[in-house]
Amino acid sequence: MELCFRSLSKFTTSIILLLFLFSCFSFNSSEAYDALDPNGNLTIKWDIISWTPDGYLAVVTMYNFQQYRHIQTPGWTLGWTWAKKEVIWSMVGAQTTEQGDCSRFKGNIPHCCKKDPTVVDLLPGTPYNQQIANCCKGGVINSWVQDPSNSASSFQVSVGAAGTTNKTVRVPKNFTLKAPGPGYTCGPAKVGKPTKFVTQDGRRVTQAMMTWNVTCTYSQFLAQKTPTCCVSLSSFYNDTIVPCPTCTCGCQNNGTQSGNCVNPDTPHLASVVSDHGKNNYAPLVQCTSHMCPIRVHWHVKLNYKDYWRVKVTITNFNYRMNYTLWNLVVQHPNFDNLTQLFSFNYKPLTPYQDINDTAMLWGVKFYNDLLMQAGPLGNVQSELLFQKDKSTFTFEKGWAFPRRIYFNGDNCVMPPPDAYPYLPNSSSRPDVSLIMLVIILLSAAFHLVCV
Ligand SMILES: *[C@@H]1O[C@H](CO)[C@@H](O)[C@H](O)[C@H]1NC(C)=O
Ligand SMILES: *[C@@H]1O[C@H](CO)[C@@H](O)[C@H](O)[C@H]1NC(C)=O
Ligand SMILES: *[C@@H]1O[C@H](CO)[C@@H](O)[C@H](O)[C@H]1NC(C)=O
Ligand SMILES: *[C@@H]1O[C@H](CO)[C@@H](O)[C@H](O)[C@H]1NC(C)=O
Ligand SMILES: *[C@@H]1O[C@H](CO)[C@@H](O)[C@H](O)[C@H]1NC(C)=O
Ligand SMILES: *[C@@H]1O[C@H](CO)[C@@H](O)[C@H](O)[C@H]1NC(C)=O
Ligand SMILES: *[C@@H]1O[C@H](CO)[C@@H](O)[C@H](O)[C@H]1NC(C)=O
Ligand SMILES: *[C@@H]1O[C@H](CO)[C@@H](O)[C@H](O)[C@H]1NC(C)=O
Ligand SMILES: *[C@@H]1O[C@H](CO)[C@@H](O)[C@H](O)[C@H]1NC(C)=O
Repeated sequence: MELCFRSLSKFTTSIILLLFLFSCFSFNSSEAYDALDPNGNLTIKWDIISWTPDGYLAVVTMYNFQQYRHIQTPGWTLGWTWAKKEVIWSMVGAQTTEQGDCSRFKGNIPHCCKKDPTVVDLLPGTPYNQQIANCCKGGVINSWVQDPSNSASSFQVSVGAAGTTNKTVRVPKNFTLKAPGPGYTCGPAKVGKPTKFVTQDGRRVTQAMMTWNVTCTYSQFLAQKTPTCCVSLSSFYNDTIVPCPTCTCGCQNNGTQSGNCVNPDTPHLASVVSDHGKNNYAPLVQCTSHMCPIRVHWHVKLNYKDYWRVKVTITNFNYRMNYTLWNLVVQHPNFDNLTQLFSFNYKPLTPYQDINDTAMLWGVKFYNDLLMQAGPLGNVQSELLFQKDKSTFTFEKGWAFPRRIYFNGDNCVMPPPDAYPYLPNSSSRPDVSLIMLVIILLSAAFHLVCV
């Protein structure tokens, strides 16, 4: 009876999950919704710590509550628009990129007089007296699952020409968060409950004068128009390697060499790559049929009596990016019986309590947490050992392949299900089960449909 209930609720949740996936059809491009991280957000807290003669002193903290999406080098950029004629007298742990026109000031010159300041984090190695807690990491913020202790970033700001009571101060408007490109949308600042701060010895609690918070969410469709990642498949039981779909992330320009991709045999490879400028973060990819910066290969490697083994390889085809703190999210029904994993870190993601089919994988510190730019070192790999659950395990109908893969939070395009390698003995083409077909088609069509 109980078992029956459990499988029933599992089934219901799967249906709900599917409905969630379908609901993507009704979302427009600026709305962010991620079925594997439904509450994922980045919250900016603006705590007024004390009043000053002409304004206030505030600590601004960004908390990354996203399960697997992080902000990597070159880090975040935060902007807003002042509601009145505020100026920034000084900042600790961050700086504005431009001072602006402070010509109306004599004597004390503010740090920034712009109506719409843009703030960046300071770099590691900043002198001690310019630091506060959670600052000075070059704008890098880790994800909540990967490293919660490094998932926040703070700075202190002394604001002048603002109000000096909770009735006269005004909330800044139009927060913009870049990482460093587009992707995040921030809502309006809301007055929240004043934050309480506990002293280091835990013996005293202080309280902010006022607290505002802003919630920002990410959308892959705002970040880039095309996919950035694709999946290829192979297995021990079939020699066919199913490649990434052609033109997944772009097509090679067939005309004369117009440089939208780089051939690794180019004689002056290094100069071609560096020619494109240091601060250009648009990918410069190696020429491939898929043109994606990242390919994830899933190889079904071995079959034992009670276990089966998969090899996962992530290859970087982008000459312009070393992926620091990279992560992979993989959905496969056998993750509830993952027995062993080599050279990657693992945590289960369970946004829908009783479905344990999604794993977050990331590199081991100082060993393979850096996925190097395109070239001989531009790949990382791992092997996964799963225990077979006799009631569900099969090599048929593409069951052994992942349902969904994300790299750094971006959906990777899968090959079409009818191209999956299949067992030699099956006389006809496999009829992929309906639910799987729907899931796979959806994740493949995700980009097309939701743009
Ligand atoms: C942001 O994420 C936190 C942590 O998951 C959650 O408590 C909060 O409700 C979320 N905020 C919004 C507006 O979704
Ligand atoms: C301002 O502070 C007073 C007490 O000092 C409090 O009653 C009031 O609710 C506060 N207003 C806001 C908007 O926080
Ligand atoms: C905030 O942004 C909106 C839309 O981009 C714009 O219409 C509005 O004028 C901006 N407000 C300020 C104060 O800059
Ligand atoms: C932000 O403010 C809203 C409104 O007061 C509150 O419901 C929410 O819990 C706050 N979020 C955080 C993370 O403080
Ligand atoms: C590029 O050329 C190849 C072979 O000539 C052709 O098969 C392919 O369709 C062309 N692709 C585009 C995007 O024109
Ligand atoms: C990646 O890291 C290597 C070694 O640290 C460095 O030589 C290379 O310039 C870096 N590439 C990029 C694109 O930052
Ligand atoms: C999910 O499965 C993994 C691997 O078998 C296990 O370690 C983990 O505890 C499970 N998590 C939940 C929430 O059931
Ligand atoms: C697989 O995991 C599920 C859930 O954790 C558990 O109920 C089941 O017994 C496991 N199966 C095997 C063969 O270990
Ligand atoms: C391997 O799978 C492919 C489909 O991807 C199929 O065309 C081929 O016939 C299979 N090979 C064997 C030996 O069954």
